[in-house]
Amino acid sequence: MSDLDFIHRWVPGSSTRTLLLLHGTGGDEKDLLELGRDIDADAGLLSPRGKVLENGAPRFFRRLAEGVFDEEDVVVRAHQLAQFIIAATDAYKIDLNNLVAVGYSNGANIAAAMMLLGVAKFNKAILFRAMVPLSKIDIPDLKTVRVLISAGQFDPIARVPIAERLAQLFESGGAQVTFKMQASGHELTANDVEAAREWLMR
Ligand code: MLT
Repeated sequence: MSDLDFIHRWVPGSSTRTLLLLHGTGGDEKDLLELGRDIDADAGLLSPRGKVLENGAPRFFRRLAEGVFDEEDVVVRAHQLAQFIIAATDAYKIDLNNLVAVGYSNGANIAAAMMLLGVAKFNKAILFRAMVPLSKIDIPDLKTVRVLISAGQFDPIARVPIAERLAQLFESGGAQVTFKMQASGHELTANDVEAAREWLMR
């Protein structure tokens, strides 16, 4: 039996789509609910809280320093989160074909890790301020995958060349990548939400 072993929120929707909301460092399961609603007023919202604590701040995997990831932990945590998603889709009758990951910063990075490891249960993802989560990886077949990467032009953390490198990794597996550049830093803007809405409607 698989467990619903992440603290999480489930908000049922009125359509068959579900957004998997993955917060950034220091966020929690409530953090992105409003963003999710702004992106899609009708979707179900599934929002887990990362289990790693960094000085009390929840994350989805360990890091050794800002932008330096504990890659062994990334792999373990990506598998654990994928297991949770299976359990949740079963418990809440979520349509896997209509499950879209929406991640911000650390949450975008764990979403990218799940996809690049081939353990993701979703094939669409909106990645805000994402980075390359793993340095050595055999890219799986990603031909059914669609990704929106929304980067901040002045982001000092998820810097543009890193976001571009992530886009290349997805493309090398055959994924369809849309890359948007926002006139912002690491923080999200209304243009990010607009880009996400547009991309989802396509
Ligand atoms: C963050 O602040 O969450 C980082 O920049 C991204 C990460 O550590 O995954």
